[in-house]
Amino acid sequence: MDCQSISKLLDLILRKMLKFLKNNFQLVNFFVAALLVGMLYGWWYLPNAKQLSINETSGIHNQEKIPSPPPLEDRELSSLPVPTPTPTNLEPLITEVPEIQTSPLLPGLPPDYEQLSPLAEQQGSREVPNNIAVKTNLGHYSFPENSQQRLVKVGEYYGRSESLDQEAATAFKKMQADAQVQGVRLTIISGFRSIASQDALFQNQIKRKGGKEAAARFSAPPGHSEHHTGYALDIGDGANPANDLKINFENTSAYQWLARNANQYGFELSFPPNNSQGVSYEPWHWRYVASPRASQIFMVARSGI
Ligand code: DAL
Ligand code: ZN
Repeated sequence: MDCQSISKLLDLILRKMLKFLKNNFQLVNFFVAALLVGMLYGWWYLPNAKQLSINETSGIHNQEKIPSPPPLEDRELSSLPVPTPTPTNLEPLITEVPEIQTSPLLPGLPPDYEQLSPLAEQQGSREVPNNIAVKTNLGHYSFPENSQQRLVKVGEYYGRSESLDQEAATAFKKMQADAQVQGVRLTIISGFRSIASQDALFQNQIKRKGGKEAAARFSAPPGHSEHHTGYALDIGDGANPANDLKINFENTSAYQWLARNANQYGFELSFPPNNSQGVSYEPWHWRYVASPRASQIFMVARSGI
């Protein structure tokens, strides 16, 4: 077959096709439309069908059943930590016995202020060389300020370092560790205090309570706090800091634990309810009395003379 014959044949086929399309215009339109619909269907449905099949094998039967996360607000509320007091909001919490409220005043005191303040001298108190306490007319015994060399850091309270005499520190750390094993978090709120710091604290308490006698029910006059010895400390419940330095501390697991166990570690409550000193009940204030040195320091105070 030569080229001319092939060309004639193609021309004939083309004419036949055009004639067919012309005579069957609606049928052709239908097939084109069907083809387009088929392509669209394949493009959209097949990937989704694949995803549905994956969900079937993982036990999720359709996409509506995939659990969606709760709204952001709900998640935030349920995961919010219990608010903990910060140094700036600590003061309003301590309403009953604001022992530590005046600590910010301390930096303003003269650095060489180490002896009994004029206020303590007015009250007739005196230092006793052999560490034996003497009661003042405000119901508190005098106590010597421990030497810095004997102090050991035991912890921090809102960033403020707290220390105890080395003997009390060892006993407290052991007690704290044993309580921790039983799920109770004993924290140190206030340990050793200098006479200067107690003076600032007591002056502030006088302003709050309106006089020395009223103040002395809650804070010892300078030179008369067990905290000077480094053998006394205020204890809190790490799981319940809102009750720090409050009578409600006695309802915490920390206090319940201390009431059952502290004696075994050499600690006792200094100011139980209706104590002979007339000091307000302080369930958080404990003193270490188990070493010869500690027992001598607290001998008179413990005798109630
Ligand atoms: N709160 C006790 C009495 C003290 O100030 O030492
Ligand atoms: Zn105390």
